[in-house]
Amino acid sequence: MIKDTQGRFLRNLRVSVTDRCNLRCAYCMPEEEYVWLPREEILHFEEIGRLVDVFITLGVDKVRLTGGEPLLRRDVPRLIRLLAAKPALRDLAITSNGVLLGDQAASLKEAGLHRATVSLDTLRRERFTLLTRRDTHAQVLEGLTAVARAGFSDTKIDTVVMRGVNDDELADLIEYGRTVPAEVRFIEYMDVGGATRWSMDKVVSRKEMLERLSQRYGRVEPVIEVTTAPADRYRLPDGTVFGIISSTTEPFCSECDRSRLTADGLWYLCLYAQKGIDLRGPLRTGASDDELRALITGKWEARRDRGAEDRLALRDREPLLQVERLKRDPHLEMHTRGG
Ligand code: GTP
Ligand code: 5AD
Ligand code: SF4
Repeated sequence: MIKDTQGRFLRNLRVSVTDRCNLRCAYCMPEEEYVWLPREEILHFEEIGRLVDVFITLGVDKVRLTGGEPLLRRDVPRLIRLLAAKPALRDLAITSNGVLLGDQAASLKEAGLHRATVSLDTLRRERFTLLTRRDTHAQVLEGLTAVARAGFSDTKIDTVVMRGVNDDELADLIEYGRTVPAEVRFIEYMDVGGATRWSMDKVVSRKEMLERLSQRYGRVEPVIEVTTAPADRYRLPDGTVFGIISSTTEPFCSECDRSRLTADGLWYLCLYAQKGIDLRGPLRTGASDDELRALITGKWEARRDRGAEDRLALRDREPLLQVERLKRDPHLEMHTRGG
């Protein structure tokens, strides 16, 4: 196990398998055009497998596939099979927008995926279309049904809450989650790369969400547990549990055990990091496992970033990055580094 300068272990690796997406969520991909990663630079599944093996020897035991939309990559079940064969991975999950899960949930389960998280911000079709610029709301709902039917448990729904957009649906989403079943997690709108229309007045804080839910449900009690997960969980009087990820107003950098690998093999230590570490280069020019391990260890042990906390300390907070900068370096995009 390796530790960084703040005593944080490296346990959780988010692997983006494609930077492409079939939705255009306003908080992530608000622009009309994007610059995509060159195809020949995208890691092959075997290359991902090799890097994951190296990460496992350094303490990683959780891997989450992300995108863009990971299921746009051809034959994801083959990658799952390759990763599920590694006993050291006690958690193998995917974060998907759900559009393609209706078709793929069963084969992902069969390939050995442990669990799925589906992004869903609204239960209203017209709202979904406005928010994502695609008319595929029904497919996402079918996707969630397919996940349950395929026999997955511990399914989660991720909802980014934006003032004036979907903040009147908190209770409806919790009720819907119960029927899936899936645990809903409300995420504070974050000023990450890609969120070029972000402003603090569109953020609904955890505090405000809890106040609103208490008005509706009465007592909302925190679930007492020790985890490094970004979500704090709460229980309603009827036992239903939901989570809140308060990355914007109450960040959890001090417990962050995660890093992220982009589809083209750059390794980012912080969601807010400006620069990644190139692992594809060494991998493709024949670095040994020991050399890769040394590279990764050196960078993690030097890690000091606390991106979300640094952002919180700013007085006049504006979007992190402007469009021109994102176009010059698409690695700064949330949909490239996988959330
Ligand atoms: P589990 O707790 O294992 O289910 O996974 P998770 O919560 O890491 O996964 P998920 O992909 O559902 O992440 C939820 C959201 O939390 C992301 O989409 C981001 O909005 C936010 N998030 C994830 N990683 C980070 C991080 O390193 N820093 C911050 N500030 N937010 C993060
Ligand atoms: N704020 C918060 N979460 C975001 N995501 C993407 N952009 C943002 C943002 N600006 C997260 C959402 C989505 C996942 C894929 O990435 O959780 O569900
Ligand atoms: Fe939406 Fe996720 Fe696609 Fe971004 S990557 S546009 S959040 S579905």
